[in-house]
Parts: sequence; structure tokens; C-alpha cells
Amino acid sequence: MTDHEITLEWRDGRTETVTVSPRESVLEAAQRTGVRLPYDCRKGTCITCVGQVLEVEGTDDDSDTDGADGSARPSSADAFTYRRSPAALTDDEQADGYVLLCIAVPRADCHVRVGPQVRSEVGDSPWS
Ligand code: FES
Repeated sequence: MTDHEITLEWRDGRTETVTVSPRESVLEAAQRTGVRLPYDCRKGTCITCVGQVLEVEGTDDDSDTDGADGSARPSSADAFTYRRSPAALTDDEQADGYVLLCIAVPRADCHVRVGPQVRSEVGDSPWS
């Protein structure tokens, strides 16, 4: 397990690259380095922190970096493991690359789209 570089991309073109250790989530690493991301529950239930994986640059286990199912779009499982079940996301949303950054621990370097536009694309959490 190694550190991973996560590049966060906002709609206006701003980017921030955060180094995330194997012991922290993307949100925790962002907060440690002064990068502001939206959050609320920090437990994977509210969707406030959602991002979408755009590109995966290689995984800890060196597996295929295309989508896990062979598709061009990476799923969140291609780049992240979760500390707990991402209850607020459906299986289809995860397959489309949506990821809850408060509980997501990277297993690959990757680019992630963030911001209110991403939040508006996913459904409401059944838990909030
Ligand atoms: S902050 Fe609530 S799901 Fe991440």
C-alpha cells in the first residue's frame, strides 16, 4: 500500500492534486492540505462529498485500468476501496464512477471530478 496522487478537477478548470496515504480518505487528505471539499455526514450516507472518477492511472494490484467490466469509463471500484459501505450510492452510480470521497481510500492515482455539478447528477440519498 502506497500513497496515491488524486487530482481533483472543478468545472471551472481549477485542479488540485492531493497526496493520500493508505490510512486516510480523500476528504481527510484534502482537509489536511487545505483543499476545501463539501461534506456533511462523513459516513457515506448523505452524498454531499460525491465526486466522479474520470481517469485511473494504475492500481496497487496492477490490474487493468480500464473499467472493471471492460468499458472505457472507470468505475469507482477501479480506483478506491471503502472503509464502510457507500450506502448513499446505487450500484449503477458506482459503476458510472461516482465515489463518496469521505470514506474512499485510493488504490490508484486518478483524476476525480468534484463540485456541485457532480452532486446534481446523482439521486438523493435514501438515508438523508
Ligand atoms: S459527507 Fe456524507 S456521504 Fe460523504
